[in-house]
Amino acid sequence: SLDMEGALTARDRVGIQDFVLLDETTDAAFLSNLKKRFSRDLIYTYIGTLLVSVNPYKELDIYNKKQMETYMGINFFELPPHIYALADNAYQTMLTEFDNHFILISGESGAGKTEASKKILQYYAVSCPSTTLLNTVRDKMLMSNPVLEAFGNAKTLKNDNSSRFGKYMDIQFDSQGDAVGGHILNYLLEKSRVVHQNHGERNFHIFYQLVEGGEDDLLHQLGLERDAQHYNYLTQGECAIVSSINDRNDWKTVKNALQIINIEEINTNHLFGIVSSVLHLGNIRFESNSKGQAVLANNDELRWVSNLLGVDARSLQEGLTYRKIEARHDQVLSPFTVDHAIYARDALAKAIYGQTFTWLVNRINESMENKDPSRKTVIGLLDIYGFEVFYVNSFEQFCINYCNEKLQQLFIQLTLASEQEEYEAEGIEWEPVQFFNNKIICDLVEEKHRGIISILDEECLRPGDATDLTFLERLEDKMGNHPHFVTHKLADKMTRKTLERGDFRLLHYAGEVTYCSHLCLTRQNVLFFSLLKLICQSKNAIVKECFSTMDADSRRRPETVATQFKSSLLKLTEILMAKEAWYIRCLKSNESKQPGQFDEALIRHQVKYLGLMEHLRVRRAGFAYRRKFDVFLKRYKPLCPATWPHWRGEPADGVEVLVQHLGYLPNEYKMGRTKIFIRHPRTLYATEDAFEKCKHELGERTSAVYYQCPVFATTKIETCWRGVQARKEREKRAWAVKVIKKFIKGYMNRGQAKSSDNSEYLAFVRQNYLNRLKNHLPKTVLDKTSWLPPPAVLTEVRHLLSRYCVKKHSNIFKGKKESYPQSVAQPFMDTRITSNQTHKPTVFHSVFLQYSVPVIKYDRNGFKPRPRQLVLTQTAAYVIEEAKIKQRVLYTSLKGISVSNLTDGIIVFHITCEDPKQKGDLVMQCDHLFEFLTKLCVIANKQNAVKVVQGSIKIEIQAGKESAVDFSTGHEPMVYKAKNGHLMVVRRVLFLMMTSCVLSALP
Ligand SMILES: Nc1ncnc2c1ncn2[C@@H]1O[C@H](COP(=O)(O)OP(=O)(O)OP(=O)(O)O)[C@@H](O)[C@H]1O
Ligand SMILES: [Mg+2]
Repeated sequence: SLDMEGALTARDRVGIQDFVLLDETTDAAFLSNLKKRFSRDLIYTYIGTLLVSVNPYKELDIYNKKQMETYMGINFFELPPHIYALADNAYQTMLTEFDNHFILISGESGAGKTEASKKILQYYAVSCPSTTLLNTVRDKMLMSNPVLEAFGNAKTLKNDNSSRFGKYMDIQFDSQGDAVGGHILNYLLEKSRVVHQNHGERNFHIFYQLVEGGEDDLLHQLGLERDAQHYNYLTQGECAIVSSINDRNDWKTVKNALQIINIEEINTNHLFGIVSSVLHLGNIRFESNSKGQAVLANNDELRWVSNLLGVDARSLQEGLTYRKIEARHDQVLSPFTVDHAIYARDALAKAIYGQTFTWLVNRINESMENKDPSRKTVIGLLDIYGFEVFYVNSFEQFCINYCNEKLQQLFIQLTLASEQEEYEAEGIEWEPVQFFNNKIICDLVEEKHRGIISILDEECLRPGDATDLTFLERLEDKMGNHPHFVTHKLADKMTRKTLERGDFRLLHYAGEVTYCSHLCLTRQNVLFFSLLKLICQSKNAIVKECFSTMDADSRRRPETVATQFKSSLLKLTEILMAKEAWYIRCLKSNESKQPGQFDEALIRHQVKYLGLMEHLRVRRAGFAYRRKFDVFLKRYKPLCPATWPHWRGEPADGVEVLVQHLGYLPNEYKMGRTKIFIRHPRTLYATEDAFEKCKHELGERTSAVYYQCPVFATTKIETCWRGVQARKEREKRAWAVKVIKKFIKGYMNRGQAKSSDNSEYLAFVRQNYLNRLKNHLPKTVLDKTSWLPPPAVLTEVRHLLSRYCVKKHSNIFKGKKESYPQSVAQPFMDTRITSNQTHKPTVFHSVFLQYSVPVIKYDRNGFKPRPRQLVLTQTAAYVIEEAKIKQRVLYTSLKGISVSNLTDGIIVFHITCEDPKQKGDLVMQCDHLFEFLTKLCVIANKQNAVKVVQGSIKIEIQAGKESAVDFSTGHEPMVYKAKNGHLMVVRRVLFLMMTSCVLSALP
């Protein structure tokens, strides 16, 4: 496999691009390779198809459009590792297998998950085909990011743009591969941040954006001052201004994005009304009167809140300072202490902010919704808050870290565990790889009746005030000697020193975290009933909508936040388990957010807890690909004469014959009980390439002309498949023996109805006839007599064929274009690739390529001729130069096609100019005009768009600027820019006619 490795490492020549190829699987070798690559800004490395990404903390020039184009439709291992390669691979697999996928992006806070998910979305926005209509869906998907980040991200100690909510986004694709819709599921927003921030942290970005960037009028209307220092809820972390964040610019982006996702102006006003009401709430202060009851210290802020939320000021004041107890017929008002009042105020702020966030997600979902009911496949992107440890960790950190624990469990299940279980079930010889299974920690947190969440629930819901001490005691009772749980009481002497009495510590997969049990209880605070009732009557449309669904009168025991979160994660796991998984593991390069710093200890720790070494060991020893025998056989059987068209025996035997024929080496695959296991992805890719090539050939055999297979796939095969040449000879001979046997059988059964005995023979007869026919086609359409007599089994073919040649384009060109009659005898080809290898459109996966032909393209301004390759896919025509896409013309924006009525190859594409990306009409000359346009008509359904024009063809050089193509005659065919600025096309045919006129005029 040295050639292959050589080829792989040669691409960027720094370290090794796939850890699977590493010489030794030690931590040191792993780290050294990562470091080597990181020092040269190569942040991506594979472990098989898993992508490891190291946060560079600086802008790298690897996410531009050119890079995207490079990665479109390539085979995964052909280019240096990149997030685009993974995105593309998932996309291509989804299209060919027509199933659902998800990309799991994990890593601790600040490792680069959110950035990664944005890169993937941007890639799809550029790489998937799309119509103008769909562009709007695409814009909405892209624009949902700045909005959700403004409301759901904040600066923390770990990350200046830390996601404080979990996000799972489905991107829906139709069978053509167009991105047609999207849907977001959001997970538990860290609401406590609205009212409290630790030192060095901020509230959610949107508050600062509004205060810093909001227009004067708006701020005036909302009663806000342009000064973050003025607001209690913004200043507890003492870092309202951060150098890496430009709140003023971000404000503009968010405002613009809100428009794109269809939030009406009136709702935008309501939205910022809510945001500012939170700021005013935070400034409401309470004082204690002589009886120890809370009273409001300032009325202004209260008035603003009541104003902005559209609730009665007196009732609001009452709600903030009294608890209303409804007895049978009366209400009893029980006054709050200052602490209680603050608690009520904060609960209100958190509730309205949290509900508003959900409202936003719903609105985004409505705007991205695809209403077309036809079947879609999806790629899900999971970007959730990463594992984090702070000095003080409360309920939110507990949820966030539990969530990461669950995702790690999912990863283990889908890769390490299930993989090894499968080998065992399939009877594959296997040396088990040991790994740490964190299921024990998940159980500790979530087990029914016994886990921490259950105990937390009981404490929160039982009557009377729960205290942290009772909570802690219950925990100690139940978890007493769990290896991942420690409290002050349970700890040994050494550990005890590091624990406060009210704390409990979990030994997570990613590290130890000490939680404050007091904060775990109180941070769950719920809105008092009377405030909830009041807020339900809000005149602010968004608040009203949010709270109207909440059943204020319900006396049912509510689910606690922790339990809700637990069930939502359970549901998420189910969603993900039903899809094919792809993994991106993000690593944080250093704690200080600095570019170029590779903190070895920090990275070693992450590599360890993410289980990357174990993953590597399983990958190295294991098999990249597996498929049930029948499925594998069904797809690849055309690759082997013995399995095509039918294999009569056991599928397993068929697969064995097939892979023998393909030349798989014994150590490259294993036969399980029901599945074939293929060790390296490259073996599969080579097989898939061969399949693509073969599909072309199969198509050919049944159409009119046999031709040499296109070169797309062949070169790939040659590079991918070691020793394939040598094996071919041997195979050919074996194959010949089989074929001759079959041939004889076929000959004997040739008169019978088509069956497996004679079908290949008949195909041979047909092909043979067509080959001969190619060289003996009748000279004109009208000549019905000189067709080569067909063999008996093909009598109907001749008939069809003579119709085929004429009919296919007769409606469009017959009797209209001068050169048409001569063209009829020329056979059509399925595609034409110039011998010039540089035009090979490698940018296309052959699945997409429908037809390709060399053309001369004339520049719009100087009409300079440029040799190009024109490629047709299902949705667009591409002008290609040396494997680069120069121009894309979507069929939807191709409003007309003009050709002259004369003998020339000029073709004009008239392109809708509303599309700002298009530069005007496209003028080309093509030697295979009839073939090209017939293909285009069939693929793009454009029969009615083709016009045969007499005189000159009008063209639009750019919006509003016209020119024309004129035609004339001369001695030599020429195309040039004439003095009048038109493109002059001179043809020679008439010269011959002239000579014949002159000759005939002679005596
Ligand atoms: N590929 C990248 N190129 C350049 N900078 C990056 C890249 N990935 C991440 N960063 C930098 O790291 C910062 C943190 O990344 P990101 O917000 O994606 O982390 P995260 O994993 O989502 O963290 P959290 O769990 O806190 O949400 C980014 O704001 C950016 O400055
Ligand atoms: Mg994030």
